[in-house]
Amino acid sequence: MKDASPQTIHLSDYRPFAYTVDSVHLTFRLAPKATRVISKIAFSPNAAFPGEFFLHGQDVKLIWAKIDGVDVTPDVTDAGLTCAVPDAPFVWEAEVEISPATNTALEGLYTSNGMYCTQCEAEGFRKITFYPDRPDVMSVFTVRIEGDLPVLLSNGNPVNSGDGWAEWHDPWPKPAYLFALVAGDLAAHPGSFTTMSGKDVALNIYVRPGADEGKCAFGMEALKRSMKWDEDVYGREYDLDIFNIVAVDDFNMGAMENKGLNVFNSSCVLASPETSTDANFERIEAIIAHEYFHNWTGNRITCRDWFQLCLKEGLTVFRDQQYTGDQGSHAVKRIEDAITMRSRQFREDNGPLAHPVRPESFIEINNFYTITVYEKGAEVIGMLKRLVGDEAYYKACDLYFERHDGDAATIEDWLQVFEDTTGRDLTRFKRWYAQAGTPRLTISDDYADGTYTLHFTQTTPATPGQDEKAPQVIPIAVGLLSQNGEEVQPTVVLEMTETYQSFRFDGLTEKPIPSILRDFSAPVILQREQTNAERAFLMAHDTDPFNKWDAGRALARDVLTKMITKDAAPDIAYLDGVAAILRDDSLDPAFRALAISLPSEDDMAQALHDDAVTPDPLAIHRACEALKVAMAQHVQDILPRIMADMIVSGPYSPDAKSAGKRSLGRAALMLLTRIDGGAAAAKTYAEADNMTMQLAGLSALLMIGKGDAQSEAFRDQWRNDRLVMDKWFGLAVAMAPPEKAAMVAQALTQEPDFDMKNPNRFRAVFGALAGNAAGFHDPSGDAYRLLGTWLIKLDAINPQTTARMTTAFETWRRYGVTRQTQMREVLENIAATSGLSRDTAEMVGRMLG
Ligand code: PHE
Ligand code: ZN
Repeated sequence: MKDASPQTIHLSDYRPFAYTVDSVHLTFRLAPKATRVISKIAFSPNAAFPGEFFLHGQDVKLIWAKIDGVDVTPDVTDAGLTCAVPDAPFVWEAEVEISPATNTALEGLYTSNGMYCTQCEAEGFRKITFYPDRPDVMSVFTVRIEGDLPVLLSNGNPVNSGDGWAEWHDPWPKPAYLFALVAGDLAAHPGSFTTMSGKDVALNIYVRPGADEGKCAFGMEALKRSMKWDEDVYGREYDLDIFNIVAVDDFNMGAMENKGLNVFNSSCVLASPETSTDANFERIEAIIAHEYFHNWTGNRITCRDWFQLCLKEGLTVFRDQQYTGDQGSHAVKRIEDAITMRSRQFREDNGPLAHPVRPESFIEINNFYTITVYEKGAEVIGMLKRLVGDEAYYKACDLYFERHDGDAATIEDWLQVFEDTTGRDLTRFKRWYAQAGTPRLTISDDYADGTYTLHFTQTTPATPGQDEKAPQVIPIAVGLLSQNGEEVQPTVVLEMTETYQSFRFDGLTEKPIPSILRDFSAPVILQREQTNAERAFLMAHDTDPFNKWDAGRALARDVLTKMITKDAAPDIAYLDGVAAILRDDSLDPAFRALAISLPSEDDMAQALHDDAVTPDPLAIHRACEALKVAMAQHVQDILPRIMADMIVSGPYSPDAKSAGKRSLGRAALMLLTRIDGGAAAAKTYAEADNMTMQLAGLSALLMIGKGDAQSEAFRDQWRNDRLVMDKWFGLAVAMAPPEKAAMVAQALTQEPDFDMKNPNRFRAVFGALAGNAAGFHDPSGDAYRLLGTWLIKLDAINPQTTARMTTAFETWRRYGVTRQTQMREVLENIAATSGLSRDTAEMVGRMLG
């Protein structure tokens, strides 16, 4: 953790390990501050790649070590050990001591509310015992757990157990990062699933006894749906007798796909109508699916090295996106994913932390679990599928599973199955993995004698370490509409491969109106002169739901830009478009809710910056508020009817249709609250029988500076529910007026139930502070400094979460001199902190660099 001279690791330096691991036996004697781990590992020299015998190990105390039963004295350093070993197969044995109870970094073995659990991805296993902790070293694990606790779990199948001990055996060779152990006083919510070949699998969701037991049912059903879906769509069957999920309160990330024993942040699995919102339910279902899908894309086929992270993450995100689309609406899911890409991935791509989907170097791998690796990694798979077509895509996937089952694979392996299936040369396509930055696509067109031509130019701005960019292969889905709104050219996918390229459409009778980048067919930014009349036309007529939505977005962005930079009044064409969408009952409510939503304030800051305007977050905030008021006034006669129509009667269900209705109802409520003094919001709050509407009522009230009484009531009601209290902490900061946001966050840190050791609680407060754009960028600089101070405190106990949260500052160069100076000072302060973790040092260094 405290590393004086951080090393940069390069993809080009990859070398296989000099030994193979033939089997692993581990015994854990659990004790909070002195757990003993006894390992017995069979090694053989790797004849093809001879080299040093080096085992990683960090914060582990070596008690003794033996080779073939004879005591040895290895050379131990901060990072691991070396030892003289025979030139033939041998058995390594060691006993080490570790301290789970003081492990606040939440990597390796740690305790959370009295339960033991592990987190080994990416490099946490080395904090458990000495081992070649790299994903290309795979082995079969047998684990014995000794501890005076009712539930003792590890990977694979249970072998044997007795009073205070249990043994597990995982028959599938796996890298150490997929190892897991859980022990505690836990209650199981059981279920079962019969696989496509008729094998019965026992399923369990383990939680702390008590209230959490009532929050497992949804996750269990979601797990079964995921198992079935992976069989139906990808032909992938589960491969053990048992599949366990455990909910933990203290967890750095969302969840972890350990073989047969997924560990979840409790916020990503526990759900009930009273305590979880529709958005929570959707996210929980997606994460359960994601971790389950990893069983094939990640576990059965893993990554050769951490540079290949997108091999498992991009593909698994793509799969969970497909799954979510299948559960509800593909159009709505696509829009949601595009919003995430544009607001978070484009933001990363545009700043000092930009890196390729497959990075070529890193200091701390934890810093590369990014929106680029995950979400852009998924977009790259989506582009590949669009280019080769569905049939070839699934054929190539089948070949991938067949050819690489049991392998630690690379992006090259993945692309090779597509080349072999389709005969395509993917050399140029592969640039998506190597080049950072978001391509800009400039478009012009002309029409003559029945022929319409679209001209495209692509450029990708320089990113850190990559000044020159080569052209990418861009699938551009295009349709053409006639002047009266009929589709004269259904969607075709144009394959752009060069810097400049033109595409012709013949046989037209008039100049068409193009609908470009349908379904968000590539993660690029369109740059095109377009009138607001044309945008309004597409908003009304486009047959592609994504572009219909996006036309409204483009219009909103233009309207806001003029309000911010020219003090213009809200454009009536946009307001009419919004009214038309709201009135159109033929449209899916979830879609309508998205279609009337505005770009976020941070999106607007990025848009202005792209137009070479220095963004002023307060001016952006005021313009967004003013536009919302104008919208509310413009559609006030429709709002009560929408709210009434969108009431979902009967018991709460989180299904996509009900959630969609609630989301339009909530959007209407937010607008109405700006003109009715909060009456409808207070009523919604008072009558709510589920968290979605309760929180909607409360947020709406807080938004207009009311709701103190409801906020207090909410707190009293949910005082004992950690996950709901996270919402309360977050909402108070998110809804605070800009000039008060830092003060509110600071006050919350003084609350007795603020616990900086719990990442969810820390993120609730400070994630919300960073997300309150005008509050975070308040001219006083107070929010910057407050976050900086707390990040320094957190770094001493939890480097991984600290490093991730430094990204709040990644846009610092967008702003004016005063804000830049304030943010730079905070970053420099963090950088100058003595004993700063390697994680945080790398992030801050890159941002300042
Ligand atoms: N591999 C996990 C996932 O994406 C994420 C994760 C990474 C969790 C590192 C913990 C630590 O499913
Ligand atoms: Zn994943």
